[in-house]
Amino acid sequence: MGKAGKERAKERREKRLQEISELRKIPYPPADRWWSSDTVAAVTGSCRGIGFEIARQLAVNGLRVVLTSRDPSRGVEAMSALRMEGLDADYCRLDITDDASVRSFADWMLTKHGGIDVLVNNAGVNFNKGSENSVEHAAEVIETNYFGTKRMIQTMIPLMRPSTFGARILNVSSRLGRVDGRRNRLGDVALKEQLLKEDCISENLIDQMVADFLQQVNDGSWVSNGWPQVFTDYSLSKLAVNAYTRLMARALSNRPAGHRIHINCYCPGWVRTSMTGWAGNISAEEGADTGVWAVLLSDSPDGNFFAERRALTY
Ligand SMILES: NC(=O)c1ccc[n+]([C@@H]2O[C@H](COP(=O)([O-])OP(=O)(O)OC[C@H]3O[C@@H](n4cnc5c(N)ncnc54)[C@H](OP(=O)(O)O)[C@@H]3O)[C@@H](O)[C@H]2O)c1
Repeated sequence: MGKAGKERAKERREKRLQEISELRKIPYPPADRWWSSDTVAAVTGSCRGIGFEIARQLAVNGLRVVLTSRDPSRGVEAMSALRMEGLDADYCRLDITDDASVRSFADWMLTKHGGIDVLVNNAGVNFNKGSENSVEHAAEVIETNYFGTKRMIQTMIPLMRPSTFGARILNVSSRLGRVDGRRNRLGDVALKEQLLKEDCISENLIDQMVADFLQQVNDGSWVSNGWPQVFTDYSLSKLAVNAYTRLMARALSNRPAGHRIHINCYCPGWVRTSMTGWAGNISAEEGADTGVWAVLLSDSPDGNFFAERRALTY
């Protein structure tokens, strides 16, 4: 994109952010509030950054939130900060890469809260900043962002409580994980076509894609194999999350009324958090907005990818 194009994109983004800041001032009308103070939302990786803000804003809107982190002392501190604001917050330790930790979190949710109504899969890692593109931590990035998210979804679905409006799962993803994005394009045309066709996406396709990438990282051949060009390991992990969101939306679509589970994903934008080294053009509060909006939609769609309170193509 040329300089003029970048300027126009920046103007469009700033105009949309301004519109959203106006929309955020409008309270949810009582008729659209499908939730109550008994509605329990758990947010992974929520003692800082975007996750903390998603939890805080959900609690401000009247949900009971469960914060999670790997380090309990930081988690308890975050929970206390929300309680000091008069919000309904609880805390449980959770490492999404550890089966035992995820199972014990699920047991705790069932015992303490009787299940779960909203799951926000926010926890994630990215080891590259600026123009770096190292794959040194590729295995951890894929394990956390993709397999950790998948583990949470599979473990928590049986605990999701029946309701008229449906339970909700929201995956915090990234535009960098688009199949045919402006900055990141998959070079493998056959794989790209499969990922763009709803009924070609399978768990095996996604798992094989990330396994092939990790194999190529090990043998050094990944560079010339058409993977996303920016933050390759991170972008691929989010591409896998996006594809898995669509796959699960299809798998969950035949649940009977009263037992529906709506699953979507979203990109928070480029946010000033520890992950970006505090670079970015919006705050965590602004970055959380579309996630909170998506969870609170009274008539939730399924399998959508949102950014700035709009649906994007994958
Ligand atoms: N910042 C951006 O510009 C941006 C853009 C697009 C998407 N995102 C996505 O937004 C989400 C939040 O990122 P952020 O910017 O807020 O970054 P952050 O401040 O680094 O937060 C990341 C969170 O993930 C948690 N986490 C990492 N590994 C975990 C694991 N194994 N188990 C449980 N929790 C784990 C961390 O928890 P601990 O406290 O336990 O370390 C932390 O709370 C991520 O999914 C990220 O990919 C961010």
